[in-house]
Amino acid sequence: MNTVTTVRELRAAVAQARAEGKDIGLVPTMGNLHAGHIALVEQAAQRTGFVVASIFVNPLQFGPSEDLASYPRTLAADQEKLIEAGCDLLFAPTVEEMYPHGMQGQTLVHVSGVSEGLCGASRPGHFDGVATVVTKLFQMVQPDLAIFGQKDFQQLAVIRTLVRDLNMPVQVLGMPTVRAEDGLALSSRNGYLSAEQRVAAPALYRTLQQLGGEIREGGRDYPRLIAEAKEQLVTAGFRPDYLEICHAESLRPAHVDDRHLVIAAAAFLGNTRLIDNLELDLA
Ligand code: PAJ
Repeated sequence: MNTVTTVRELRAAVAQARAEGKDIGLVPTMGNLHAGHIALVEQAAQRTGFVVASIFVNPLQFGPSEDLASYPRTLAADQEKLIEAGCDLLFAPTVEEMYPHGMQGQTLVHVSGVSEGLCGASRPGHFDGVATVVTKLFQMVQPDLAIFGQKDFQQLAVIRTLVRDLNMPVQVLGMPTVRAEDGLALSSRNGYLSAEQRVAAPALYRTLQQLGGEIREGGRDYPRLIAEAKEQLVTAGFRPDYLEICHAESLRPAHVDDRHLVIAAAAFLGNTRLIDNLELDLA
């Protein structure tokens, strides 16, 4: 596996793979790779002839009071894991390489609709930053296939909408959330948790599962079910940011007759913000 840091080198390596008749898979990440990221890379390696992973902690998607400075950066360990997963090329640019003209005045890609509620409401500008950097990566790599995790359900919806609306010639594939044995969704941010918080953390997914069970059994008083679930999170030591039952495609609040739902939640344990979701098909 080669590691490159410039767009020039990236384009040259991808062009060579194309000339060899290979199709291109892309897995964008911010690094500090865990089994959830690696599952995406392995899937890309199964489906395409040349796998590009990117590691870039994108300042444009972090709010002013968020964890940009402290976000874990573990390049050497990440490279080892990528080699083992069958990655062919790692693109690990600097901020200057990605934003040579600075981030002020930078063209922004804004996806309306699906980006507005949930994390979009709590993190203003976040999805503009995501949509912009993913568009740039797509332009740089021009992949046939790009793979994202369902753990970031809204992000995946934003990217699918972006690709659809801008006619981008890339297939987007979403992969199931990889979890620890106790149900906690793997996340680079889990590393911020104290031992005590780590014990409390699986209550987030347990709460979603319990709520999902109630809906599957016919529970339709969504406001009451949501209030109870939030109460359960508080009891477990969380400070809920949001917990919503949404229509899985539009991400607007669900109507009682919607059949394809996603329960999405974000909640703080101390200063650490965890997100998770559960998709429900009632059909
Ligand atoms: P990051 O949080 O590093 O995640 C990179 C990819 O891994 C995303 O597609 C995310 O959904 C997926 N992922 C994270 N945890 C996962 C898990 N437990 N199971 C399965 N997939 C998981 O998401 C980003 O980076 C950034 O916003 C990015 C898309 C790279 C744009 O900067």
